[in-house]
Amino acid sequence: MNAQTIATPATPARDQDFMPLLGVDHVELYVGNALQAAHYYVNAFGFHEVAYSGLETGERERVSHVVQQGRIRLVLTGALHADSPIAAHHRKHGDGVKTIALGVPSVDRAYREATSRGAQGVGEPREISDEHGSVKLATIATYGETLHTFVERGDYRGPFLPGFEARDSGSDTGMLLGVDHIVGNVEHMDPWVKYYEDVFGMHEMIHFSDKDISTEYSALMSKVVTDGRGVVKFPINEPAEGKRRSQIEEYLEFYEGPGAQHIALATRDIVGTVAELRRRGVEFLSIPDAYYDEVLDRVPAVSSQLADLRKQGILVDHDDEGYLLQIFTKAVQDRPTMFFEVIERHGARGFGDGNFKALFQALEREQDRRGNL
Ligand code: FE2
Repeated sequence: MNAQTIATPATPARDQDFMPLLGVDHVELYVGNALQAAHYYVNAFGFHEVAYSGLETGERERVSHVVQQGRIRLVLTGALHADSPIAAHHRKHGDGVKTIALGVPSVDRAYREATSRGAQGVGEPREISDEHGSVKLATIATYGETLHTFVERGDYRGPFLPGFEARDSGSDTGMLLGVDHIVGNVEHMDPWVKYYEDVFGMHEMIHFSDKDISTEYSALMSKVVTDGRGVVKFPINEPAEGKRRSQIEEYLEFYEGPGAQHIALATRDIVGTVAELRRRGVEFLSIPDAYYDEVLDRVPAVSSQLADLRKQGILVDHDDEGYLLQIFTKAVQDRPTMFFEVIERHGARGFGDGNFKALFQALEREQDRRGNL
């Protein structure tokens, strides 16, 4: 496996200015128990709770805990009543990503451009306010029941959004810094690649075919879209034919449709971060020890770190521009659906395709243990 053989050069974005993006503002998960989910992200992943909305703040329908680390904000939202659309979503999908919110300079313009270019509008531009100022929001649909919300914060000074009260569950652990990319699993990727090209003016930066990403049993195909400035990267996966069921099919079955597969979080110290996350109880996929026998042939630059990388089970990949270190957690809820990646980049712009084979063999061992291979 060699990243250079399958990475296609990024093409210049065309007409990218109609949808400037500031980055991922937050990711909202619908969960079965937001209180306990917040405890997990705080105590296992090292987030701290910064804001809260629920019965105590006058919110009668839902409860949301906002946890933050670096520039990463996760909103953990649960239903307060059986007839809530959040409860219906959770009944169908289990815990998972509902909304990938994107910061924009102008919500009115983003919503107008997106809907005029084929996006399905879900929430018209609206301004919400409290004593800290006002924020403008609008929402469109993407794959499955997943949404994108545009967020225009202006000079809003509150802890999260109007209606939320500040919480302070401790200080930033500083392990995880920002969202590197968010991957979607869909039945057919090409219509969704076209969606991101048409609606967001994104361009395809890399694609992987089933020849690149396959093991004896399962395969997937993937294309990565990014915005003109490269601040938002969305790989889109679809299952490919294999002897056995692919990991993407397992996801689609248990999520009951398309959805966000993993959120990759950037760090500058993956060895220290993974050691601490393990100590706090985060579980990672284990990698066969034999994987490390050939790492230095591919990426000599990591020689001084090799013992630590092997000890923590961290994967190594490279492309023309540098290398990257990455690791994947096990699924973080009951269903074998969403998980996290921790990634430390040293120049490389890829997504670890050189690791896919070793990674997928590890994933398949887990899938086999669940009787789903
Ligand atoms: Fe990834």
